[in-house]
Amino acid sequence: MKFGVVKESQETEARVALTPASAEQIRKLGHECVVEAGAGARADISDAAYRDAGVEVLDSAQAVFDAADVIGKVRPPTEAEVDRLREGQTLISFFYPAENEELLKKAADKGATLIAMDMVPRISRAQKMDALSSMANIAGYRAVIESANNFGRFLTGQITAAGKVPPAKILVVGAGVAGLAAIGTATSLGAITYAFDVRPEVAEQVESMGAEFVYLDFEGDTGSGEGGYAAPSSPEFREAQLAKFRELAPDIDIVITTALIPNREAPELWTEDMVKAMKPGSVIVDLAAEKGGNCKLTVKDDRIVTDNGVVIIGYTDFPSRMAKQSSTLYATNIRHMLTDLTPEKDGTVNHNMDDDVIRGATITHKNDVTWPPPKPKQAAQAAPQKREKPKEKTPEEKRAEEKAAFTRQTRSQVMLLAIGAVLMLLVGAYAPESFMSHFIVFALACFVGFQVIWGVAHSLHTPLMAVTNAISGIIILGALLQIGAGNWLVVILSFIGVLIASINIVGGFLVTRRMLSMFVKS
Ligand code: NAI
Repeated sequence: MKFGVVKESQETEARVALTPASAEQIRKLGHECVVEAGAGARADISDAAYRDAGVEVLDSAQAVFDAADVIGKVRPPTEAEVDRLREGQTLISFFYPAENEELLKKAADKGATLIAMDMVPRISRAQKMDALSSMANIAGYRAVIESANNFGRFLTGQITAAGKVPPAKILVVGAGVAGLAAIGTATSLGAITYAFDVRPEVAEQVESMGAEFVYLDFEGDTGSGEGGYAAPSSPEFREAQLAKFRELAPDIDIVITTALIPNREAPELWTEDMVKAMKPGSVIVDLAAEKGGNCKLTVKDDRIVTDNGVVIIGYTDFPSRMAKQSSTLYATNIRHMLTDLTPEKDGTVNHNMDDDVIRGATITHKNDVTWPPPKPKQAAQAAPQKREKPKEKTPEEKRAEEKAAFTRQTRSQVMLLAIGAVLMLLVGAYAPESFMSHFIVFALACFVGFQVIWGVAHSLHTPLMAVTNAISGIIILGALLQIGAGNWLVVILSFIGVLIASINIVGGFLVTRRMLSMFVKS
């Protein structure tokens, strides 16, 4: 089979569906690759780089359509591109079938197969083909970079000789793929980051990334949908959410909105009065601009400044603004799709409509429109949780818990002691007397040592390690006294004792030095 990639026909699109690295992997599946000359230029991939990877470079898009059995693209095809498709040919690209029904019918009439990368189901097995996620990840990252570029201050707090700079406060609305990427970037740049989502199961992910989840005082349906997506929220919930945002607006420097409900206009979450309440110089990046925006003041594909000096960015081409990175990820998503379409790795496409992922993404096949697909058998599951702030325990509850834990611990210690005593009696019944006195000292040392070390807080483990150096020193002394003994077994054991204790001492010093150097001002 020949896989061909054309240059994107939309002027502003810089991404490309094939990279030299993905071409090499596709060739391992037994396929050949062709590409239109200049297809990768805007993503910094030259024709020569493609040629070096064994890709044939053809002069025109038409030549690619004529030569290839499967065509790869990023943006949905134009009408002219669908016209070029022939019976039995496959096209893999984003398509958004709900918005392009006429083109869909046209492709089906021509007998072409369309695989829409935006229809890949969100199940774990399909993550490697989930181009929406890989692009949203880039968009989330870029949204923070773009906002930082428009924000006149550092994101991180600093104390310098010239003055104190407070850290920027960033609110991320919608903690899906783009939102989580934005949170990760914002926290790593040192901003104080807050995040909100209607799906309570993401609160833990948000917190594990160093951001603070914004909780609402709300009992009832939150609008948590299924398959990793949200459902529309109830009016009461929406009101509670807007009230919280209104409270936060004057204090927040940067808002990144990513809230989306599949196949709907983006919900309005950052209202005009919230924009007015923000400080001059604040920035809003509305990633949902494509679907009308989460802020109604957003102008799609533009950057505006409001009367009160708030910058609102509504670009819809963030992935294309990082074309090299996004082409790499998108081409890998396509390559994985081709891997699933070539199970035997023999250069022959097997379009298996019983496969959940292939079925879900196929929107026309054998003259039929096969969209919308049936629900995948293996659906992504949302953990059932309530969206309430974890309740603080009362002192009585805390005391009761501590008492129960203490009783459990005492019980298990008594059990261990009893088992130890029985074992000791058994050994004592057979072993010589001199051995027993050493053995009891050894067992007691193990027990006391274990009890002492077990109770030490994790933060004190490094000083504890330093203290063990003293114990290692005693071991070395004992071993050196014994090493001259005639018995070869004692010599070997002493040698091992000296070796291990020395490693412990040297390692302890190195770790302690590294720890101390963290506190030394350069
Ligand atoms: P996603 O579906 O993974 O995440 C959307 C999140 O919004 C979900 O976690 C959902 O629970 C949440 N949400 C829905 N309604 C909400 C509400 N009322 N309040 C709070 N949270 C709510 O979507 P993904 O992939 O993260 O994409 C996010 C947005 O970014 C989409 O609108 C997408 O079209 C857009 N996008 C924009 C790009 C650009 O260049 N501007 C590029 C890629 C994606």
